[in-house]
Amino acid sequence: MKIAVFISGGGTTLRNLIQQRDAGRLDVTFKRVISSNPSAAGLRFAEQAGISHHNVCRKDFPEADTYSDAMFSPCREAEVDYVLMAGFMRHVLIPDDFTHRVLNIHPALIPSFCGQGFYGRRVHEAVLSYGAKVSGCTVHFVDNQYDHGPIFLQRVVPVEVNDSPETLASRVFAAECEAYPEAIRLLDTGQVRIEGRHVTW
Ligand code: GAR
Repeated sequence: MKIAVFISGGGTTLRNLIQQRDAGRLDVTFKRVISSNPSAAGLRFAEQAGISHHNVCRKDFPEADTYSDAMFSPCREAEVDYVLMAGFMRHVLIPDDFTHRVLNIHPALIPSFCGQGFYGRRVHEAVLSYGAKVSGCTVHFVDNQYDHGPIFLQRVVPVEVNDSPETLASRVFAAECEAYPEAIRLLDTGQVRIEGRHVTW
């Protein structure tokens, strides 16, 4: 499977995918890493792994459609099968030819604690302040609304009494490190079907 990865920050999700590939647990070829942020720490993981990478800054594109084109044209040129958002913090329109070919992982159980403004540490702070007893992660197909497309996989983790945002984030991230590769392996079987909001295999 040929993939592109969109990043914005630390790149720990990208690092996990590279490690899984290196360990023989993920049969993917990384064709491109595209960062929304030229100083994203995650770019170094692409560099170290010898993956072609570049930046596309939202502010350089006045219109949503030209920004979308700048993100997806390199993916088209590289003939990628899927685009994986990995800590990617920008809203980007999904072109028709990429419908159901863009995945995201969100560090909570969608439809809770998601949408615009819910990313990274803020998600875990919100879960703790709400008093939720469980959290987790969601792998979903991306549509044109934040954290909204059809849900593919979810993994649940407990919220412990003494959790800080950091301890909860670490437990959720461990679940993410299993769930995202699992979703990619399932896609690779060609058995995944999407009907409306329902994803089956
Ligand atoms: C992950 O927890 C991921 O679920 C979250 O960012 C973290 C990884 O960032 N993504 C979001 O919050 C997207 N809404 P990193 O890969 O840049 O280290």
